[in-house]
Amino acid sequence: MSEPKHTPVLLNESIDHLNLRAGKTIVDCTLGLGGHSEEILKKIGKNGKLIAFEQDEENLKLAKKRLKKYEKQITYVHENFENLRSQISELGLDLVDGILFDLGLSSPHVDDAQRGFSFKNDGPLDMRFDKRQKLTAEQVVNKTKEKDLADIIFHYGEDRKSRIIARKIVEARKQKPIKTTSELAELIKSTIRSRSKLHPATQTFQALRIYVNRELEVLELALDQAINLLKPKGRLVIISYHSLEDRIVKKKFRYYTQDCICPKELPVCQCNFQKKLYILTKKPIIPTGIEATTNPRARSAKMRVCERI
Ligand SMILES: C[S@@+](CC[C@H](N)C(=O)[O-])C[C@H]1O[C@@H](n2cnc3c(N)ncnc32)[C@H](O)[C@@H]1O
Repeated sequence: MSEPKHTPVLLNESIDHLNLRAGKTIVDCTLGLGGHSEEILKKIGKNGKLIAFEQDEENLKLAKKRLKKYEKQITYVHENFENLRSQISELGLDLVDGILFDLGLSSPHVDDAQRGFSFKNDGPLDMRFDKRQKLTAEQVVNKTKEKDLADIIFHYGEDRKSRIIARKIVEARKQKPIKTTSELAELIKSTIRSRSKLHPATQTFQALRIYVNRELEVLELALDQAINLLKPKGRLVIISYHSLEDRIVKKKFRYYTQDCICPKELPVCQCNFQKKLYILTKKPIIPTGIEATTNPRARSAKMRVCERI
């Protein structure tokens, strides 16, 4: 089998916005196959440091191989980025110069049927980024109560057909457990009539993936930590791939640009909250037409950037 590949999204734009200089300390929270990290390493030079988080062991191995010549400058952290602050302080660091999040899936996740993220190739319903974790998509599909399953599909897939889909899943699993991506995709396809070009299972698959990996919850937690880990003028760059993630990023940025978070009824400020950020992207940066055509994964990408005051 050929070596897995991933084309980094918004590469030049993200690297430019990190404002990299020789000797800086940068955190890549989503190393993947190391595409963004490699460019960061070129810019920060021999005296620069990179701390790279990746919770997927297979991607971590591939990235280590790719970045071998920079190994002295890199600290790899095989952890969820929700533990950003504690991991950084374990390394004896206080603040850093820049942080990058390039969220979600890498190409090998989609291309390798055994990872169970995609219904394009048949594989086990897995969907875990981190195989040390116990919960899989198969367990969610076969064990979750109908109402909870509908809520997951509605909230994380934004699918208005969530109730019908959940009902059909529960009916089908009474006959026999749903074990593969194709079984689930076919079941949904036979349930939902749709004129959209999207496969009717797309949103359910997104929902299950987000739920299994607690993607929105960990993003929220990590953003607070990231903002507080930046040195003055340090940059935070976030590339997201669906509206649920982008909404969290936008809201968090807005929160930290306030001068006061007291309830409106209070006549005088008592919170002592201080604005921590400048937002550098009033509107998100999106891929150029060329990038979107040559790299389909980039099509839904949105990049937001802020700078620590
Ligand atoms: C879009 S890919 C990053 C690709 C990378 N920028 C590159 O150029 O190769 C996202 C990566 O982040 C990892 N990831 C996703 N959520 C994570 C989390 N909460 N903690 C650590 N790694 C995570 C995924 O396993 C995946 O490898």
